[in-house]
Amino acid sequence: MTTANQSIKPITTKINKEGNLEIGGCDLVELAQKYGTPLYVFDEATIRTIAKEYKKAFEKYPKVSMLYASKAFMTKAIVRILDEEGFGFDMVSGGEIYTASTAGADMKKCLFNGNNKSYSELQMAVELGIGLISVDNFLELALLDNAAKAANKTVDILLRVTPGIECHTHEYIQTGHLDSKFGFDLTQTDEAIEQLLDEYKNLNLVGLHAHIGSQIFETSIYYDEVEVLLKEMSRIKEKYGLNLSHINLGGGLGIKYTEQDCPPSINEIAEKIITSVKENSKKYNLEEPEIHIEPGRSIIGTSGVTLYTVGSSKQVPKGKKYVAVDGGMADNPRPSLYQAVYTAQVANKPEEPPVETVTIAGRFCESGDILIQETKLPELLPGDILCFYDTGAYGYSMSSNYNRVEKPAAVLVNNAQSDIIINRENYEHLVSLDVIPDRFKKEQGY
Ligand code: LLP
Repeated sequence: MTTANQSIKPITTKINKEGNLEIGGCDLVELAQKYGTPLYVFDEATIRTIAKEYKKAFEKYPKVSMLYASKAFMTKAIVRILDEEGFGFDMVSGGEIYTASTAGADMKKCLFNGNNKSYSELQMAVELGIGLISVDNFLELALLDNAAKAANKTVDILLRVTPGIECHTHEYIQTGHLDSKFGFDLTQTDEAIEQLLDEYKNLNLVGLHAHIGSQIFETSIYYDEVEVLLKEMSRIKEKYGLNLSHINLGGGLGIKYTEQDCPPSINEIAEKIITSVKENSKKYNLEEPEIHIEPGRSIIGTSGVTLYTVGSSKQVPKGKKYVAVDGGMADNPRPSLYQAVYTAQVANKPEEPPVETVTIAGRFCESGDILIQETKLPELLPGDILCFYDTGAYGYSMSSNYNRVEKPAAVLVNNAQSDIIINRENYEHLVSLDVIPDRFKKEQGY
């Protein structure tokens, strides 16, 4: 059985009676007219379906917690949807914690993670009663213990470790290999545990946390990751008599950006994880642990598309044809950062056959601002609406105001209804934090 991460398009994508693309019962050309472009469109049915697919895939293992990796895309509405679907939130900043808590997430189901959390962020996490904190390094052990002591609380923690597993993804998004900025090396866990036992009385170690990378297509590395963590847990049990009860395996399941991509289904990943937990718990003589997983991209990626309006084009004599759209690297930095490849379709003429090979260029002032290199599309004319699939994850969340361009709006579509979930920025927003020093006023009359 396939799951939604294995489809390029949101599950409700159709061609409607008008001959336009439609998602969530909403005509994409009408959405572009109503809200302007660039526009991020999120399909609620895809998000909820995939969230349910995760729950179902892990159903047969009794002790599983799902946390959504907020960094992929977080707004208050997304928090509401995933909270309702029973997810907690994996968060890495005060801003993410603030968003989750003000949108009513259950803080007990959440985890605070990150390689350089500040004291004030740790204090915030302790005060809000976040369920687990994944401690990344020695400094953080001391800071968190102080924050917990000051609040007169005991805090449950995981130790973030680097399991030494390399996955085949872009090197910027690999994290579990040994030479990584994240977590304790497995040769350092003893020292961390000894400090915990001797000094940090307000911290309660309940398990281990790892994340091996992102946009992963291999299922076997999840088997290996579980084995590494359980082996380490059994070593800790033997040496210190500590019975750790949780393993957090991070996120990483890939999605289908192009026809060539073949990500595994959620069921395949779940099967590997559960098999490994069962086999290795037996092998290392441990009680079967509680499993936490934190998918980001595979929850939100497929649900989101970006609409752009086509503008100018340029045929380089004896070279490429560039067609420019009204967005680019500021709303989707992934092509320029990771050479990420996307699939696009013309929303107002999806059935027209491809007739030319074009390079889709962004509007930002850099030659590297190319969204798709050489793709075959119908003839693109100014005013056409181009729909980029799979921009739901790490698009808005990594967007910027480069060139002082306003960030686009995001709408949620469902059952022929569209609702704004993030307003479009305007010029006032862009200057709202600027300050002209008072002395300029005196000198220059401003
Ligand atoms: N847990 C931890 C500890 C993580 O570091 C991450 C992602 C996740 C979970 C979620 O991983 P996912 O399921 O989304 O693959 N900006 C990059 C991806 C960076 C991922 C960072 N960590 C991109 O656009 O490809």
